[in-house]
Amino acid sequence: MIHPPTPSAFQEACRLWQAGEVVAIPTETVYGLAADASQDLAVAKIFALKGRPHFNPLILHIHSLEQLEIYAEIPPLLASLANAFWPGPLTVVLPRKANAPLSELVTAGLDTLAVRWPAHPLTQQLLQQYGKPLAAPSANKSNSLSPTSAQAVAASFASQAPFIIDGGDCPIGLESTIIDLTTSSPTLLRPGGITAEALKEVLPTLQNKEEIPSLIKAPGMLKKHYAPQLPLRLNALHPFPGEAFLGFGSLRGNLNLSPSGDLTEAAANLFRMLRQLDTPMYQGIAVAPIPLHHLGAAINDRLQRAAAVNEEDNK
Ligand code: TXA
Ligand code: MG
Repeated sequence: MIHPPTPSAFQEACRLWQAGEVVAIPTETVYGLAADASQDLAVAKIFALKGRPHFNPLILHIHSLEQLEIYAEIPPLLASLANAFWPGPLTVVLPRKANAPLSELVTAGLDTLAVRWPAHPLTQQLLQQYGKPLAAPSANKSNSLSPTSAQAVAASFASQAPFIIDGGDCPIGLESTIIDLTTSSPTLLRPGGITAEALKEVLPTLQNKEEIPSLIKAPGMLKKHYAPQLPLRLNALHPFPGEAFLGFGSLRGNLNLSPSGDLTEAAANLFRMLRQLDTPMYQGIAVAPIPLHHLGAAINDRLQRAAAVNEEDNK
């Protein structure tokens, strides 16, 4: 499953991405588990493979500022950061463009998007050859260390290992630094490959997330979650009058997360279908029961958080 970075391995990687599969790739920070960011099912496969009990939003990997403009609003502060640190181990959270050709699962339904322009020559070559941005978290099973070699990726996934492109050891070996530019002043969400000192030289107003406790958006414990405007009612067997019904399996509904009861397909459809039903045509959204195994755990986690956020808002 480990392949040297030859032209034929690159061709195969692009073929797999086009076909909606995931491929593990080297970057200068850590190996990434990459999929075509425009394909719902491909992105859902990342979560299925990682075995994550919840949907974290993913980083979009791009190869140019022109490409970035298709996906995100560019605030004035980005120019100096990009000048100093891109391509490189810096991830920036920006407002997502509403019409961007991007799976909702990449951002876990949020209106913000984390993006990175990697410096590793093999990553750049792959991004250019594929032409479309890749969504990629670190290429490890949930709750294990980020892999910095192809062998570590293979070991983490064992018999489930995807197609892996071997780029040798990652030169940085630490995840990228994440800065949020959607907060009132720029916030450091995750320390990483670029030191806070180097960042503050370019961005003197940078705050650590601890400095603004009300805005904690730490990776993995995002306080802000996607929530529909309408109240959500979970584990519903049928809709009440005025409610939209989001079905699953044989419980059909106005829309159905997966008529065949496939949890990866349900994850792929989740955020998009919630948005589709979240219109003033209805008074609420009833959601059919989703089993708790496999990606069902992450789906239920997200639904419960969305229902809770939304209850708080309506108080
Ligand atoms: O170096 C890296 O960043 C590696 C390589 C593969 O690029 N990727 C990586 O991805 O570390 P991941 O998924 O393991 O970590 C990305 C972090 C997550 O903890 C997530 O919460 C945060 O980025 N994140 C993604 N989108 C976000 C958003 N819109 N707002 C706030 N945080 C976000
Ligand atoms: Mg990770």
